[in-house]
Amino acid sequence: MDELTTTHTIDTATGKEAPAELSTERVKTIFSSIATKYELFNAVSSFGAYRRWLDGMMRQAPILPQHDVLDIAGGTGDVSRWVARFKKPSHIQCTDLVPEMLEVARMHAAHGDFGDVPVDFDVVDAQDIPYADESYDIVTMAYGIRNMPDRPRALSEMHRVLKPGGSLVCLEFSTPPNPVWRTLYRFYLTHLIPFWGGLITGDKSGFVYLAKSIRAFPDQQGLAAMMEEAGFRDITWKNYTGGIAAVHVARK
Ligand SMILES: C[S@@+](CC[C@H](N)C(=O)[O-])C[C@H]1O[C@@H](n2cnc3c(N)ncnc32)[C@H](O)[C@@H]1O
Repeated sequence: MDELTTTHTIDTATGKEAPAELSTERVKTIFSSIATKYELFNAVSSFGAYRRWLDGMMRQAPILPQHDVLDIAGGTGDVSRWVARFKKPSHIQCTDLVPEMLEVARMHAAHGDFGDVPVDFDVVDAQDIPYADESYDIVTMAYGIRNMPDRPRALSEMHRVLKPGGSLVCLEFSTPPNPVWRTLYRFYLTHLIPFWGGLITGDKSGFVYLAKSIRAFPDQQGLAAMMEEAGFRDITWKNYTGGIAAVHVARK
């Protein structure tokens, strides 16, 4: 582990300093075991809202037909599919840390779910991206950064691989500004998310982690500050469902 990693790594369930391996191994265990049920869980637990949030992400994403898009923590390929369908860029590189999640994304490709857009898949740790400097026009990431123990390093890596003027478009769970809505949401997170998760995937503990990691994650301003620290500018965000989720757009 190098010095940068040691300095910044946290336990993503608590936000407290911890070795990177703790969070990395946990995330690999959770997502490799729930990969085939992940999309069903998303649809049920968010009452379908995840689709509206993806639609919002697409409205905010400055993706043009000539762009090469890098999808970080792409999982089973939801964001890449939305990008292919609504933006039709010249190419999408769909990446994730966990091969089992990407296998589901590959199955979507085999079923023609990306239309005519060329898509490649690659196992990539966002904290150590194996691509050249300034090689992508857009980086997308949904529900990824929260799971990474070295977030400053991951954001710096995304900044590095973006071309000058390129944008990071990030969808993540966030903090509802209204205290009543926030309390209701936190009750749902703590009690009902593990229930739904256990019912659908048989792995309740993974969803206890999900709820904890959301509660421990910085709010909208906090995430914007981390992006600024990594070198991004012109950072804006838009809240969805009263701030349960937010889409940040940040430029290099
Ligand atoms: C909640 S899923 C989101 C997947 C997809 N973006 C979506 O919107 O459905 C989180 C994903 O982040 C991936 N992930 C976690 N840590 C990562 C890392 N360090 N580098 C790349 N991907 C990572 C996990 O493997 C998992 O597929």
